[in-house]
Amino acid sequence: MCGIVGYVGPRQATSILIDGLRRMEYRGYDSAGVAVLNGKGIKVQKAEGKLSALVEKIGQETIEGTVGIGHTRWATHGAPTTPNAHPHISGDGRIAIIHNGIVENASSIKKALTQRGHTFASATDTEVLAHLIGEYYQGSLEEAVAAALRDVDGAYGIAVVSADEPDVVVAARKGSPLLVGVGDGEWFVASDASAILEHTRSVVYLDDGEMVVLTRVGYRVRTLEVSRIEKPVNQIEWDLATIERGGYPHFMLKEIFEQPESIENTLRGHLLHEEGSARLSGLNLTDEYLGQMERIIITACGTSWHSALIGEYMLEEMARISVEVEYASEFRYRSPIVDNKTLVIAISQSGETADTLAAIREAKRRGARTVGLVNVVGSTIAREVDGGLYLRAGPEVGVASTKAFTCQVAALALVTLRFARLRHLSVLEGRTFIDALQRIPALIQSILDRAPEIEALAKRCEDATNALYLGRGVNFPVALEGALKLKEISYIHAEGYPAAEMKHGPIALIDENMPVIFIAPKDAVHSKIVSNIEEVKARGGKVIALITEGDTEIEQLADATFPIPETLDLLSPLLTGVPLQLLSYYVAVRRGCNVDQPRNLAKSVTVE
Ligand code: G6P
Repeated sequence: MCGIVGYVGPRQATSILIDGLRRMEYRGYDSAGVAVLNGKGIKVQKAEGKLSALVEKIGQETIEGTVGIGHTRWATHGAPTTPNAHPHISGDGRIAIIHNGIVENASSIKKALTQRGHTFASATDTEVLAHLIGEYYQGSLEEAVAAALRDVDGAYGIAVVSADEPDVVVAARKGSPLLVGVGDGEWFVASDASAILEHTRSVVYLDDGEMVVLTRVGYRVRTLEVSRIEKPVNQIEWDLATIERGGYPHFMLKEIFEQPESIENTLRGHLLHEEGSARLSGLNLTDEYLGQMERIIITACGTSWHSALIGEYMLEEMARISVEVEYASEFRYRSPIVDNKTLVIAISQSGETADTLAAIREAKRRGARTVGLVNVVGSTIAREVDGGLYLRAGPEVGVASTKAFTCQVAALALVTLRFARLRHLSVLEGRTFIDALQRIPALIQSILDRAPEIEALAKRCEDATNALYLGRGVNFPVALEGALKLKEISYIHAEGYPAAEMKHGPIALIDENMPVIFIAPKDAVHSKIVSNIEEVKARGGKVIALITEGDTEIEQLADATFPIPETLDLLSPLLTGVPLQLLSYYVAVRRGCNVDQPRNLAKSVTVE
């Protein structure tokens, strides 16, 4: 996710900005840039890739100046190239801006600006905002920023400088974090306290709709309408190491807790409530093609393969299309039956997994159309597919995938909705699905609020050498994913199985030492899974069950339960997956394992 830092004070700005950006590197980014006011104008320097590339560029041409802004960009709109990197400048080059978030009405603003003669050098929404502020500028940067922001829909954290006001940084927030650092004769703005913590621990947290004006004599907080408001100064007590993980002890836990927000980001801008459908123009699939499409193959590896299986249940049930899910490594080496009526969907967090990439290439060679559901913008898979949908989960640092998984499932729900509406789904059914999807982030939050209950359950599993995860229907892949999470980070051997299939083998393993984790929401196969729980209990097994709130039947049977809020059956993996992530996390922590970097595993497997 992007990082913002700004500085006004007596010291040289560039090194303070670069150090601040370095402190935010853990968030993940793919390009960086700074803009410094040097008394003559604005000096902008930016570079694709890591900060070291920017530092090298700056090194060749030192930027003098004591006021400036710096940014690390994690691409969402437009590839991670130098032209798309921030800062962006206004048409006359007198204003520079850095921006986190998404300007949702950027295309309509851009159209209007283009008609008035503006031309643009990048594919970003941020450059549009730079030009808009430039148009409004009549001698007061803060008023120009306020005026432009009144025209903007969407989320933003921004910092802006103007060559005509060499002692000023203006910043504003709505939906994207921003704070002011109050130093001794110097002032900062940052999206993340870690960027400024080495200079000051006194901060003012901005709220949505607020702006700040930093000058050489101090700072003033205001809103778009009111020119001064009072805000308390807070003292930060965390140390740097903690704050870089946003106060969480591990990235994995942070990422688990980010899921309400990341799923909202996946869904944002795609839902068409009135039509009960989804807008997915990036897939590049015409209604005509979708009408003729006969089959879908979803290909992926690891956790992404599990979300693919959930997609299979969704697509077959709602869109009535035949779906096959293939491990990418298998798909690429058999002789798959694929033609131009087959749509091949690749799912990948990194967009770089070698087998998934090879599978896509093989599918293309055989004449299939290809679509990618990918998190990392500009990654190889994202570039090679015919169309796609970015997950917008934000950077995932923990090796065990968590938020990317639920965002993949949310993205598959969008694809399902779009395909289903072209085939069998009614407008009303489509709207019901959308309503349920939109409630998911709040329901996940309610599960996260009860994390201590899962922590308590972890004690029941920490000494196990084996664990069995059982689910049915759309929650069978969740059982697979739950087992994978546990083995990845706690090194406990775990297997996921379709609950009924347990009778054909794993039942032999059941004894009082093996936790059996049932994913058992009150869905169409609930009575069947109750029987499976009875079978385990009859053999002395220890049952932990994820149940729908109020399910007293399983509550009485199981040794321990964790209730999940109600949702549509097909969307239940978005909820049931979360406590299983937490369970493996807490078990691994109790066992003293390296949660974020488990042994032998890689975040992105770019070899076969
Ligand atoms: C590695 C990671 C997994 C991930 C898998 C597929 O094994 O450790 O967490 O699920 O690769 O990665 P992708 O980036 O293609 O989703």
